[in-house]
Amino acid sequence: MTQPVVVIDQLQKNFGSFKALKDITLTVNPGEVFGFIGPNGAGKSTTIRTLLGILQKSGGRATIFGQDVWTDAVAIHKRLAYVPGDVYLWPNLSGGEVIDLFLRLNDQAHTARTDALIQKFDLDPRKKARTYSKGNRQKVALIAAFSTDAELYIFDEPTSGLDPLMEEVFQQEVLALKAAGKSVLLSSHILSEVERMCDRIGIIRDGRIIETGTLDDMRQLSRTQVTVTTTLPLASIQSLPAVHHFDAPDAHKATFAVDSEALGSVMSALAPLGITALQSTPPTLEDLFLRYYNQEGGEADAQH
Ligand SMILES: Nc1ncnc2c1ncn2[C@@H]1O[C@H](COP(=O)(O)OP(=O)(O)OP(=O)(O)O)[C@@H](O)[C@H]1O
Ligand SMILES: [Mg+2]
Repeated sequence: MTQPVVVIDQLQKNFGSFKALKDITLTVNPGEVFGFIGPNGAGKSTTIRTLLGILQKSGGRATIFGQDVWTDAVAIHKRLAYVPGDVYLWPNLSGGEVIDLFLRLNDQAHTARTDALIQKFDLDPRKKARTYSKGNRQKVALIAAFSTDAELYIFDEPTSGLDPLMEEVFQQEVLALKAAGKSVLLSSHILSEVERMCDRIGIIRDGRIIETGTLDDMRQLSRTQVTVTTTLPLASIQSLPAVHHFDAPDAHKATFAVDSEALGSVMSALAPLGITALQSTPPTLEDLFLRYYNQEGGEADAQH
């Protein structure tokens, strides 16, 4: 079996008495785009900065390419590319010079691919970095990362300053990495980006991973909204264990949420009541994530 590229096992990070990471456990497999999502302050950047050896962990284990992220950081960095959400550039260098500097720091050369990326991202590389907007600073870091031949690419909210055209270019480039068998760890608040590109997702909240899986897995875990009208009264449906938030404006019409895996059995219970109208709406990605983001406790609450 191939080894995972990234292994994080019960990782903890404290800042003084504040526990920023309590229990982060996840793996990124070769050739996989892993989406790392969760509310502001959940611990995504802290996890990533620990992976990069910028922060030292307080507990648990984290390896990349089977090597310890703290003690083997130098060796690991030769094989990865990283783009943070807030890109710092040397103000007196031009964008082009910064790109070349980033590449040299990673033992990489400026290639035809670098020029193609500068074109694609529509960057004027002659301007001084200090004159660049936030989006243009991000483009500089993205161009350097995408023209780096690495095995693992780590992006921490890399597109927060990009316009929709550039967001599309970013997504195309990530999909090209994936097609080339590279591994990607991407933290993002842009759900469409996550939906389109990520093979698996880890949801982080309050320093813990509360769910990991494919989007389809997560949809399965969630609920379908049902509105139904029947000829016989609907009251008996309310007590089914898979039915939640039952709301009946009258005895023959109700709206409720059904655990998606129990949809079949609920339909079987409805059928003898004589269905005259039925509407069922699967959860949208936003529904799904809002519920995870808003939940108070741990996994026990994940389905509310
Ligand atoms: N150097 C630090 N010292 C003290 N607390 C910190 C430090 N860095 C991060 N934190 C705290 O750790 C928690 C996690 O922050 P982190 O930046 O990892 O969140 P995030 O998931 O990346 O959020 P966002 O979506 O806003 O980028 C926050 O409560 C933050 O205030
Ligand atoms: Mg962050």
